[in-house]
Amino acid sequence: ANPVLIDPFQRRIDYLRVSVTDRCDLRCTYCLPKGFKDYEEPANWLSHDEMARLIGLFVGLGVGKVRLTGGEPLLRRHIDVLAGRIAALPGLRDLSLSSNGTQLARHAAALKAAGVKRLNISLDTLDSHCFQRITGSDCLDRVLAGLEAAKAVGFSPIKLNMVVQAGVNEREVERMVEFSIQHGFVLRLIEPMPIGATGQAARGIDLTRLGSELARRFALLPALAGQGAGPARYWQTADGAMSLGVITPMSQHFCAACNRVRLGVDGTLYLCLGQEDRVPLGELLRSGADDDTLRETIRAAIARKPERHEFDTRPGKIVRFMAQTGG
Ligand code: GTP
Ligand code: 5AD
Ligand code: SF4
Repeated sequence: ANPVLIDPFQRRIDYLRVSVTDRCDLRCTYCLPKGFKDYEEPANWLSHDEMARLIGLFVGLGVGKVRLTGGEPLLRRHIDVLAGRIAALPGLRDLSLSSNGTQLARHAAALKAAGVKRLNISLDTLDSHCFQRITGSDCLDRVLAGLEAAKAVGFSPIKLNMVVQAGVNEREVERMVEFSIQHGFVLRLIEPMPIGATGQAARGIDLTRLGSELARRFALLPALAGQGAGPARYWQTADGAMSLGVITPMSQHFCAACNRVRLGVDGTLYLCLGQEDRVPLGELLRSGADDDTLRETIRAAIARKPERHEFDTRPGKIVRFMAQTGG
């Protein structure tokens, strides 16, 4: 039989999210505090070789889906070369990337050529003042240009991630739906999670309800099949050209169907986004561990993956920032 990773709750772990850098050129209020400098030491960043080796071991253990995240993954040098190496791993079926879009215009073609199949882009607003307020930066136009470039080189579908914050951008949801219909983007509305000091300050609204309301207003139909490896639930237009999804970690968590673990830029394996459980795989690799030892360590880690996040019962306890595990 082919090797697979099964956790204590009978969940098959076949999706690895890899943070290729914890740096970011934006400071989204729910993600990274202004003035944040506590980045991982460059000496601890895994090299391309080290990343490819670790990811290769996961793929050998049945992980067929890899998503590159950050921080902002396009700030990692030669990200297209790294993506190409990962895409070429035998057994990998789906390579995707989550980006804030600021550098996308100049990377889109190379990412496509490297074998990245799917792009998810953060976009919380179409209003430049609101964009500035949320991200601390004045570069909405660059993100929009990045989206155009991604479309032009043939990425499809392109998913937009909109973190919906009460009193900040909640009134822009309809405009975002219209924009997504116009461009054929998949729009996902996301409830902010209380991760790191900044994530704890963000206030969300119940998107389980808002999603149904929007579906009614825009005559969207429930979409049967999942569209991606992640936790979103979807509706779509009758012609299927546009989809709306909601990601509701707070109002309706999806941990029972969890299929993923995460690697930080230093090779730390995080077992759950909303728990502190971790294993220093990168350190082990650098201490000279062979593949068998690393594989056994991965198996042992999965065997103690937590059942679910504890955002609701333990508010304020996840102290690392989102950019350190890449969402
Ligand atoms: P697809 O394969 O396209 O479905 O990707 P995805 O939705 O898994 O990835 P993306 O990076 O676009 O993440 C979208 C949102 O889902 C972000 O806010 C993530 O933080 C959140 N998310 C992803 N995985 C998890 C998870 O395991 N638990 C929780 N609570 N949130 C998650
Ligand atoms: N809660 C929910 N989503 C978040 N993201 C970043 N911080 C948070 C948070 N606190 C999202 C970003 C990005 C995705 C990878 O994670 O919007 O699109
Ligand atoms: Fe950067 Fe993404 Fe975090 Fe915003 S959400 S600060 S774009 S890593």
